[in-house]
Amino acid sequence: MNRSMILGTGSAVPKKILTNQDLESMVDTSDEWISSRTGIKQRHIAEDGDTTSLLAAEATRRALEMAGVKPEEVDVIVVSTTSPDMIMPNTGALVQKHLGAYNAFGFDVYAACAGFVYALTIADKFVKDKPESKVVAIGAELLSYITDWQDRNTCVLFGDAAGAVVLSGTNDGTRGILSTHLHSDGRLWKLLHIPGGGMVYPASAEMVEKRDYCIRMQGNEVYKYAVRLMTDVAREALTANELGPDDVDLFIPHQANIRIMKKVAERLEIPLDRVYVNIERYGNTSSATVPVALDEANRAGRLKPGDVVLLDAFGGGFSWGAIMLRW
Ligand code: UT7
Repeated sequence: MNRSMILGTGSAVPKKILTNQDLESMVDTSDEWISSRTGIKQRHIAEDGDTTSLLAAEATRRALEMAGVKPEEVDVIVVSTTSPDMIMPNTGALVQKHLGAYNAFGFDVYAACAGFVYALTIADKFVKDKPESKVVAIGAELLSYITDWQDRNTCVLFGDAAGAVVLSGTNDGTRGILSTHLHSDGRLWKLLHIPGGGMVYPASAEMVEKRDYCIRMQGNEVYKYAVRLMTDVAREALTANELGPDDVDLFIPHQANIRIMKKVAERLEIPLDRVYVNIERYGNTSSATVPVALDEANRAGRLKPGDVVLLDAFGGGFSWGAIMLRW
C-alpha cells in the first residue's frame, strides 16, 4: 500500500529567551504560579528581524537537509500559522521564496493550535495523490506579536517557534502515516479567539489601543474541552488502527499545559515516559508545538523504525485532530 512517510524533520526558535522571572517584572505573576499551573519555565520570543516565514524556512531547511531533498525538488509547501507575516501574501509563498523552492507551490492552513495536524493531513493527501512528490508540512508561529503583554491570564503561556517535516511516498507496507482524524466545532469560537484585525473588526486606532489584535481566551473553559476532545480524537485514532495504549511508543500531544497533557495521557492509559513533553522550554507555540516536539524526539533518537507515534492537537475554532503513524 502506498503511504506517505516522514523523510526529515526540522525546527527553529528565535534566540531571545523570556523566563518566568522576567515575566514577574512585567505582570502580577510568579514563577511558582506559572510552573505549577502550566509547566512552563521559559519561552523564546522574536526580536526585530525575526518573521514567521523566516523561522519556517529555517526549520524547513533543517528538515530538507535530513531528508536529503534539495529545495528545487520540493513540490508542495503547506504552512500552518495563525501569525502570518502579512494577511496577503500567504506564508507558504514566502517560505518558497526564502528556500528558493521555485518548483513548489505554497499555501497556508488556518486552524490555530491544531493547524499542524491539519497541514500534515493535507500534505499526506498530496503524497497519496502523487507518491513521488516531496511535500513539506510546517507549523510556524510568532505568537509574541499577538500576545497581550498586559494580560497575565494569557501572556505567560505563549512563545514563538517553527517545526517542519518533509514527506514522500513509500510502499514499505508497514511504515508511514496510518490515519488522520480532523474535527472542528465553530459554535465554541468565542472561548479562544482574536477579536480584531479581520474584516468584522478591522484595524483602527481604537482596536490597537484596546489590544484587540491579541489572543483572548477563557482558559478554564478551554481547558475542559481540550482534555475531553484530545482524549476523544486520540481514542478515535487508536480504534481506527485497532491499536491499544500499549502499542503507542510515543505520544506527542499539543503542548498547551502540562496538566492537560497528563490528564489526556492518564485517560488514554499511556504512561508518562511515553509522552513527549518540552513545554517547560518553549511554552505554547500553537501550531509549532507538535512538529518541534517531533523533531526533538527524532534528533534525540527516541524514534526507531516501526515505532507507533500518535500526534494529537487542539485549539481555537475549536479545531482538533490526531494522526497515527508508524515511524
Ligand atoms: O493552545 C490552545 C488551547 N489552550 C489551552 O488548552 C489552554 C487551556 N487553559 C489552561 O491551560 C489554563 O486554564 C490556564 C493555564 C490558562 C489557567 O490555569 P487555571 O488553573 O485554569 O487558572 P484560572 O484561570 O482558573 O485562574 C486561577 C487564578 C485566578 O485568580 P482567582 O480568581 O482565583 O483569584 C486568576 O486570576 O489564578 C489567577 N491567575 C494568575 N495568577 C498569577 C491567572 N493567571 C495568572 C498568572 N499569575 N499568570
